[in-house]
Amino acid sequence: MFYETSQPHGLKRDPFKALVVPRPIGWISTVSATGVANLSPFSFFNAISASPPMVAFAANGRHAEGGPKDTLQNVMDTGEFVVNLATWDLREAVNRSSVAAPRAVDEFDLVGLEKLPSHLVRPPRVAASPVHLECRLLQIVPLPADPVTGEPNTLTIGSVVGVHIADAVLRDGRVDTAALAPIARLGYMDYAVVRDTFAMQRPTWPFIAEETPK
Ligand SMILES: Cc1cc2nc3c(=O)[nH]c(=O)nc-3n(C[C@H](O)[C@H](O)[C@H](O)COP(=O)(O)O)c2cc1C
Repeated sequence: MFYETSQPHGLKRDPFKALVVPRPIGWISTVSATGVANLSPFSFFNAISASPPMVAFAANGRHAEGGPKDTLQNVMDTGEFVVNLATWDLREAVNRSSVAAPRAVDEFDLVGLEKLPSHLVRPPRVAASPVHLECRLLQIVPLPADPVTGEPNTLTIGSVVGVHIADAVLRDGRVDTAALAPIARLGYMDYAVVRDTFAMQRPTWPFIAEETPK
């Protein structure tokens, strides 16, 4: 099938989010101008550069109380956020932290997660998560709004200024991704978990026999 995105796709559900998969989940902690901690998952999230390390996430829609979602509002107010790795063990907490809680609610407390202080920024880290990226705001980019609802879309780009890795997932100086068991978002209500990995060497030009893709 083919459809133009400005026309009806004719399927029961919009397939778009099932077609860009798996999407890593940035489980983002922030703190408000008045000191309330917030925690929310974002799957329109990725690393966008390694040197310097940078990440980006998109907030879609508004807070139930109006205005930007708390995560975006807090980053606009404080210029800081932390990305906590969403793992299989933490999947229920990740999901629960997506609830549309009132602004005044501390979502660590709501979900029952212990906080750890960050080293370089104010937002706390999820103690149970094995990886944390401490980030400072670089740029907020307004994106085209939802053409149907008019709801805003906004891209937030941050510089990663500090990285925490649990010693338990480091083996011979490398991160054991399978041991982290990161979860990722698929379409609909589906998720993936990374338990298998494989390696391939990058080819050099000209191809030699062993490097030729089969
Ligand atoms: C796995 C998962 C991924 C999500 N990804 C996004 C996303 O990329 N962008 C977004 O705006 N909302 C996303 N949501 C919904 C937000 O997490 C939800 O709106 C959250 O409550 C925002 O809260 P806040 O107002 O506390 O920032 C996602 C929810 C889940 C469960």
